[in-house]
Amino acid sequence: MPNDPQPEIYPPSPEVIAAACVKDRDEQAVRASRDLEAFWAERAQEFEWFKPWDKVLDDSNKPFFKWFVGARTNIAYNCLDRHIKTWRRNKLALIWEGEKGELRTFSYHALNREVCRFANVLRSMGVKKGDRVTIYMGRVPELPIAMLACAKVGAVHSVVYGGFSVEALHGRIEDSQSNIVITCDGSWMNGKIVELKNIVDEALKRCATVEHVIVVKRTGQPVQMESGRDYWFDDLMGLPVAKSLPGTRSDTEVMDAEDPLFMLYTSGTTGKPKAILHTHGGYMVGVATTLQWAFDLKEEDRWWCTADPGWITGHSYIVYGPLLLGATSFMYEGAPTFPYPNRWWSMVEKYGITVFYTAPTAIRGLMRFGEAWPNRHDLSGLRMLGSVGEPINPEAWRWYHRVIGKGKCPIIDTWWQTETGMFMITPLPSMPLKPGSASKPFPGVEADVYDESGTPVAVGEEGFLVLKNPWPAMMRTIYNDPDRYVKQYWTKYPGVYFTGDSARKDADGYFWVIGRVDDVIKVSGYRLGTAEVESALVSHPAVAEAAAIGLPHEIKGHAIHTYVILKAGHEPSEALAEELKIHVGHETGPIAKPEKITFVKQLPKTRSGKIMRRVLKARAQGLSEGDLTTLEE
Ligand code: PRX
Repeated sequence: MPNDPQPEIYPPSPEVIAAACVKDRDEQAVRASRDLEAFWAERAQEFEWFKPWDKVLDDSNKPFFKWFVGARTNIAYNCLDRHIKTWRRNKLALIWEGEKGELRTFSYHALNREVCRFANVLRSMGVKKGDRVTIYMGRVPELPIAMLACAKVGAVHSVVYGGFSVEALHGRIEDSQSNIVITCDGSWMNGKIVELKNIVDEALKRCATVEHVIVVKRTGQPVQMESGRDYWFDDLMGLPVAKSLPGTRSDTEVMDAEDPLFMLYTSGTTGKPKAILHTHGGYMVGVATTLQWAFDLKEEDRWWCTADPGWITGHSYIVYGPLLLGATSFMYEGAPTFPYPNRWWSMVEKYGITVFYTAPTAIRGLMRFGEAWPNRHDLSGLRMLGSVGEPINPEAWRWYHRVIGKGKCPIIDTWWQTETGMFMITPLPSMPLKPGSASKPFPGVEADVYDESGTPVAVGEEGFLVLKNPWPAMMRTIYNDPDRYVKQYWTKYPGVYFTGDSARKDADGYFWVIGRVDDVIKVSGYRLGTAEVESALVSHPAVAEAAAIGLPHEIKGHAIHTYVILKAGHEPSEALAEELKIHVGHETGPIAKPEKITFVKQLPKTRSGKIMRRVLKARAQGLSEGDLTTLEE
């Protein structure tokens, strides 16, 4: 911990330093702080711009920052076309394994062909620049293909995680005003089928804007196909229009650097998830640079980010980041323990994975099964490991380092958010590591820890984590709600970005992120709003009121605990608690299923009627309830 007089430090090995593309993080940080625009402009030179920028950063209308102003580009062009003009044409871009063991591979040339075809399909369905397209799929190659095809035609993709359910999907389709939904018949997870198409059908009954549904056949069980609305992906890809002129190449839309690339819904303090908007130019530069520097990604590496493309980690570091760097990326469809807890390690061995990036919850979950499972496999090809999504407890860090990394792989603990688009606080491999600390800000990023009044706190003290200057992959706004963007992120400390996290900084300037300070719960690294769970609960006919909180959980980090007041005429019972859990799973998704439901007669509230979740949390943990002056009698 930060106040420890003798903190545990893992210095970089000479081999790691020799290989590192950035030998001295502090030198780069000083360069960036002297001239932020020159720093990022240099990184941007790596890419193809159809027209160069007039200005790197426009901060004249804070907090609506603009990057690479006046430039024209397209991120899909930089992910694909740029490489197929070189020897990378025949390099593997994507290796995919299905949960049942199927293997599919795509060279850059092949991936580009599929993306071009699908871009043609989208265009033929009338999709044009600026249109929103909802993608709700399992982890199959058609998911990145769909994302890239949207980018290519200038449409804005809105990927909804395939683990979300009817109401969550419905809300996101409606808010984004998508005309097209791309989905699968189903997806494989833990040997079972997740009925994606059925969920889409149910969600669409609640909203009428969608004209077409494109369905990838993955699991093959019978699904309803509504004539004139629903089309099979493969049928469309076989049409002459998909292969149309010239030679299956569809033209890439020329985008302004600031044109939107995607929106991604994430949970915040209110019930309505917000759509975080990212753009083509700055996002491209930020994501590629951070991936290359933090993981020291080399041409010959095999990169595996275990996230789902439905979350920001998948957007930035399965799809866009690796392709921008011309890397070979591995993607796996299913569960880490299917059929046995060695599944991941067997694939690390089989595909020669060299750099592996996952979440603390997964590490803790696999740790539980013991060392024998990973020890059955040759993991010696690994040279770098990563962690993301929540603080990694030192015990899990040490296990990951010793058992998976054999004591030789640096652990890159990356702190960032859907909103930041790219790593913000992360070690670079050439830095000493401290288990549990994400270490220092990426060069060009200025982070600090403030007290309530906006004064930096003393070394070792807890406070609010803030970011003090703009970065290229930063969110631009909340789709359709710019006021909420300003209020939520830039108002607590005017001109400074409020992360919603608490943290400490130690005497070496290392950051120790503690967790959320708002009504967001991180369950197994997934981000959920208390309000989303509560609104799912109150949509059940027996529930009058509900409150959700996150309580520490050994594997998941946090688990959802809920308190429910029943409507008159309904009695608490085990069976009803179970029914409510299933109801939340059906409405929001299995990840939102409460761990525990407690029936209560009253909830602690402020006089203005707001539920005091911190009181519930303190009571549940037997802690002091703090200041109760606002508590209603
Ligand atoms: O609380 C922090 C936690 O995850 C939040 C962001 O969640 P999301 O937008 O879903 O993005 C997750 C993937 C980038 C943060 O506010 N978090 C993320 N990474 C870390 C972390 N907490 C501690 N250490 C991390 N490395």
